[in-house]
Amino acid sequence: MKQRIIGNVQVGAVGLGGMPMSIEGRPEIDRSVRTVHAALDAGVTLFDTADAYHVHADEVGHNETLIAQALASWGGDTSGVLVATKGGHLRPGDGSWTVDGSPAHLREAVEGSLKRLGVDAIGLYQFHRPDPRIPYAESVGAVRDLLDEGKIRLAGISNANVEQIRQARQILGGRLAAVQNQFSPAFRSSEPELRLCDELGIAFLPYSPLGGIARAGELGDRFGEFAGVAAAHGVSPQRVALAWMLAKSPHVVPIPGASRPESIIDSARAPELILTGAEQARLDAA
Ligand SMILES: NC(=O)c1ccc[n+]([C@@H]2O[C@H](COP(=O)([O-])OP(=O)(O)OC[C@H]3O[C@@H](n4cnc5c(N)ncnc54)[C@H](OP(=O)(O)O)[C@@H]3O)[C@@H](O)[C@H]2O)c1
Repeated sequence: MKQRIIGNVQVGAVGLGGMPMSIEGRPEIDRSVRTVHAALDAGVTLFDTADAYHVHADEVGHNETLIAQALASWGGDTSGVLVATKGGHLRPGDGSWTVDGSPAHLREAVEGSLKRLGVDAIGLYQFHRPDPRIPYAESVGAVRDLLDEGKIRLAGISNANVEQIRQARQILGGRLAAVQNQFSPAFRSSEPELRLCDELGIAFLPYSPLGGIARAGELGDRFGEFAGVAAAHGVSPQRVALAWMLAKSPHVVPIPGASRPESIIDSARAPELILTGAEQARLDAA
């Protein structure tokens, strides 16, 4: 697979998002493990997870544990794999998502993620979502301290606007490696953040790049131009969507979710798909 850079780490240009394997509607563990193995076989080296990817209150980090176990049971060399996790979001077990961006929580959360991932330092740690009760500088300051202490190797933020990206970059002394925001044919309002990351050389990780778990399968029905370009190339509209965002900047690394091997095998081929300038413009306007 073609490669891109996050901080100083080279990764396959398309990563795998772990959320569908651990939240509501998740499959049996065996299918998830096969999905992770299929991703590795296809050259995926970036795995995105979070301590909040679970359903019940007593299984925090379900997806981190699953990813760690699947990496360990794959037959090949995983030394080049970057596992990106997140903290600051919580799931109390009633189906809701809450936030806690306090430095005390983030510090405790990192310890849990380190244990579940079975590592001395987390490859990429992302502050999941701003907490309106905590000044942003305090949450990002906690991430900076974790970086300084060597608990995390790279720092990222998620669900951040342009101002927060600039602020985080300053707090981290220029060491902001990645920004993870929602971006897809259906959700384009993160384009200013994508542009800023391109300008500053920060990796931009589009999340829910196919429109989210519930609607990813309908992408071609909802966006006819994507279906049209897909038909012309003989590929899926989902692959076209990923190729379209990859072409926006060399710093874009999409993280499509999957809970079936076929999905990630198809998505992992997006970097090979080269769209013409006219196709790119047509999809931008769609
Ligand atoms: N930072 C945040 O706040 C945040 C929020 C949401 C998500 N995320 C991250 O972003 C990742 C991706 O987002 P997402 O999972 O919400 O949505 P998504 O990537 O837009 O859609 C995921 C769904 O797309 C299907 N799919 C994947 N590749 C496909 C293909 N080539 N053809 C047809 N269908 C395909 C998968 O189906 P199957 O399940 O059947 O394989 C999967 O359930 C998450 O897994 C998570 O890691 C982060």
